[in-house]
Amino acid sequence: MKKFMQSSELARDDRFKRVQIPIEFLTAEEVSLEQIQQTFKTLQTNPEMKKAMEERGGVSLGGRMRPTDDMAPLKIKSQMHGIFMGEIQALEGAGRSCWDFTDDQELPWKFQLDMARQCWDETRHVETYSALLDHVDAEIGEFAENVMLFEFACSDDPAERVVGVNRCLEGLALDVFNETIRFGKAADDECIWRSVDYVAADEVTHVRFGQVWSKALTEGDPERRRKVLAFQRKVDGVFSFGGIRGSYDSRTNEELMPLAVELRKLAGFTDEDIQEVRDAGPKIKELI
Ligand SMILES: [Fe+2]
Ligand SMILES: [Fe+2]
Repeated sequence: MKKFMQSSELARDDRFKRVQIPIEFLTAEEVSLEQIQQTFKTLQTNPEMKKAMEERGGVSLGGRMRPTDDMAPLKIKSQMHGIFMGEIQALEGAGRSCWDFTDDQELPWKFQLDMARQCWDETRHVETYSALLDHVDAEIGEFAENVMLFEFACSDDPAERVVGVNRCLEGLALDVFNETIRFGKAADDECIWRSVDYVAADEVTHVRFGQVWSKALTEGDPERRRKVLAFQRKVDGVFSFGGIRGSYDSRTNEELMPLAVELRKLAGFTDEDIQEVRDAGPKIKELI
């Protein structure tokens, strides 16, 4: 079986619609609200969502979803679809990490075992979110997929791999899940909040794998640790989606996506780590 696949090689059937990753926007130091709006529009393929964006002259930046909003039914479909795609890519990322480094004699066998355990969990998550797509009356392909998450799961260093997948991708999952649980409770939809809560418990373990392995694999090698940390900052920046997660304060808390502080702490994040994630995104000109 091939090792070190690229994101363009991921197999999908014809239900899935893939959009390009706006890499320049995601790695910019500073962005404007207009650029964020424009990028979100470009990534959107759902006609109903596109129409709503045009009528409103913009999009909400991914902040709090409320069941009482008239866009809530469409937004929860989009949210579930996005998470479903994220779970598939997390499965693919962990699966590749399990297989790509089998020739590395220095890598402890327990690394592969942890990655295999993660694959087992992610498979269950894909099934859970497939059922949640049915629950909110959404279908695969109703929204686009971008393979950004997998894109940062392609490093040839296993320490960078766990940073990209386990710390950054899974950390983002905790933030998104936290907001989805909040939505499910506000909507009094027990199916949503209990299912997502159940999956979130596994993700805490996966984030912890990232914390533990990135430190263990760079122990006694300051050069490699520096390189891995630089990669971590880059991916945290990219996963802030142009700064909509992170550069907020009490003024913008309702508009932007808050970090799941409690869940991240359960996974081993310190206050300092959380602040680093907050600061990782580009500055949004209008919010400075
Ligand atoms: Fe997952
Ligand atoms: Fe996970």
